[in-house]
Amino acid sequence: MGQPRHARKDPDWWRSAVIYQVYVRSFADGDGDGTGDLAGVRSRLPYLAGLGVDALWFTPWYLSPLKDGGYDVVDYRAVDPAFGTLAEAEKLIAEARALGIRTIVDIVPNHVSDQHPWFRAALAAGPGSPERELFHFRPGRGPDGELPPNDWPSQFAGATEPVWTRLPDGDWYLHLFTPEQPDLNWAHPAVRQEHEDILRFWFERGVAGVRIDSAALLAKDPDLPDLAAHPEPHPFLDRDELHTVYRSWRRVADEYGAVFVGEVWLPDPERFARYLRPDELHTAFNFSFLTCPWDAGRLRAAIDTTIAEHAPVGAPATWVLCNHDVTRTVTRYGRADTAFDFAAKAFGTPTDLALGTRRARAAALLSLALPGSVYVYQGEELGLPEAEIPVDRIQDPMYVRSHGADPGRDGCRVPLPWVDGMPYAGFGSQAEPWLPQPADWPSYAVDRQLQDPDSMLTLYRRAIALRPRFGDGPLTWLPAPDGVLAFSRADGVLCVVNLAATPAELPAHSRLLLGSGPLDDAGRLPQDTAAWLRA
Ligand code: GLC
Repeated sequence: MGQPRHARKDPDWWRSAVIYQVYVRSFADGDGDGTGDLAGVRSRLPYLAGLGVDALWFTPWYLSPLKDGGYDVVDYRAVDPAFGTLAEAEKLIAEARALGIRTIVDIVPNHVSDQHPWFRAALAAGPGSPERELFHFRPGRGPDGELPPNDWPSQFAGATEPVWTRLPDGDWYLHLFTPEQPDLNWAHPAVRQEHEDILRFWFERGVAGVRIDSAALLAKDPDLPDLAAHPEPHPFLDRDELHTVYRSWRRVADEYGAVFVGEVWLPDPERFARYLRPDELHTAFNFSFLTCPWDAGRLRAAIDTTIAEHAPVGAPATWVLCNHDVTRTVTRYGRADTAFDFAAKAFGTPTDLALGTRRARAAALLSLALPGSVYVYQGEELGLPEAEIPVDRIQDPMYVRSHGADPGRDGCRVPLPWVDGMPYAGFGSQAEPWLPQPADWPSYAVDRQLQDPDSMLTLYRRAIALRPRFGDGPLTWLPAPDGVLAFSRADGVLCVVNLAATPAELPAHSRLLLGSGPLDDAGRLPQDTAAWLRA
C-alpha cells in the first residue's frame, strides 16, 4: 500500500476530501451472524485504503433497538453489541488513522430511542414532571384531549402519519419521525449540555468529524403552534435559535480540530449557507446535486448554485450522488425519471441498468472533478443497483408508514458482495445476511472487479488516485455544445461530460487521463461518457 498520501497532518483535509460512507450493518460481517460489524470493517480497512478514501463516515453504531437502522439511539457512549464494543470502535479509529483514513461519526440530536433512559424516566415520572421537559409532552386538544396537540406533518414517508402519540396517562409526545424516536427539547439546557459532552466523548477517542443528522429540525417554536396558522418562521424547520447551538458546537470541535457535516435539507440557498458561516458548521450535504436529473442544463445549474451559495461564507461544497436513504445511482439514472424524490418512489419502476451504469460512471468522474469534498456511499464504487426486497423481508419503517406504497430504503442497504463463489458473496460466512442479496450479487463482488480493468471499482480507484492533482481551487466553464459540460480545474485538468445524443469533440488536450468509457473511432466522446484530460 505504501505511505498513504493522506497520512499528512493537513488541517484543511476536509475541504477536498473523498469521504466513504459506511453503513455498518451491511458493509462486512466479521462474526458471521448475518449483520455487518466493526470487526468486518476492520478486516476491510486495506480495501478502503486501496480505494484511496480520506475518511469514513459511519452511520450510527450506538446501542439501539434498530427501529430506524440505528437512528434511534439508546446510548451514544456505547456500541451496539450487534456491531461490536467501544474498545473495538477505538481500535478501528486508530487502525484507520494509521492508514491515513479519518473517522466521522453520526450524531442524531433531534431525537432519541423510546428506550433511551431519559424517555423511560419521562414516561415513568408522569405528566407535568421535570423529566418530561426534556421532550415535547403536551395535553391533547378536544374535550377529552383526544386530538393531537397540533397539525405538524411527519418527516418520514407517509406525511399523513401522526407526529404525536398519546400515552395511557393522557399526555401526547412529539416525534417528527417514528413513535420510537421521540424529539428532544432543544430549549432545555440539559439537552444541549448532554450533546456537547457526547461530542467530546467521541473527539477524545480520535474522531475527526461528526455528521449531524436532521440538522435543521432540532429547534421548535416553544408554543408548538399549528403549521397552517403559523408558517413563518417555520415552527420546526430551520429556526434561528439553531445557529446558537451550532456556534457552541463549533467551539467544542475547534478544541479538537474536528469538523462537522450537517444533513441540511433546505430549498433556500441563502438559508442553507447560514449554517456554513465560519463559526458554525464546516460543511453540509448538498442535496440539490443528489436530487438533480441527468440533464446537462440542470446539472450545470445545480453546480453553479452550489458554488455560488458556498462562496460568500467561504465553505467548500460537498457532492453526493447517493446515500443510505435514496435510490442507488445506477438505478436512478436508468429510469425515465432520473431525478430523486422520496414521494415518487414506487415498486416495479422499469430500469435500464446498462444505461444507468454508463451514466453513473460519467457522474462519478463529474462529481470527483468538482471543487469540494465528495461522498461515496458503500457499494456505489461497485455500481450496485437498488435491490427489490421481498416485502416480507423489508425492515425500513418507511415501507410500513406509507402503507406499502413506498418500497422504503432497504433496497440501497443490501449487504455488500466481496468474494464471488463464497457463501453470501463473502459478506459473512455463516448466517444469511439480514437483508437478502439479489441472485446476481456475486457478479458485483469486489474480488472480480479488482481483476477487471473496466469495472466500476477500477474507475473509482483510478479517479480517486488522480483527483488530488486538481487542487481545491475554483472551476472554469469552457465553451461546449448543448448537452456537454466542460470545465477546467486549477492545474490544467479538464473534465468533459457528454449528455447529448451526438458524440462530442474533445477540447484541445495533451493527454487523456481517464475516461468513463471508450472514445468512438473518430476520437470523440460518446453520449453519457465523461473524460478527464490534461490541457
Ligand atoms: C436522517 C437519516 C435517516 C434517518 C432520519 C431520522 O435523514 O439519514 O436515515 O431515518 O434522519 O433519524
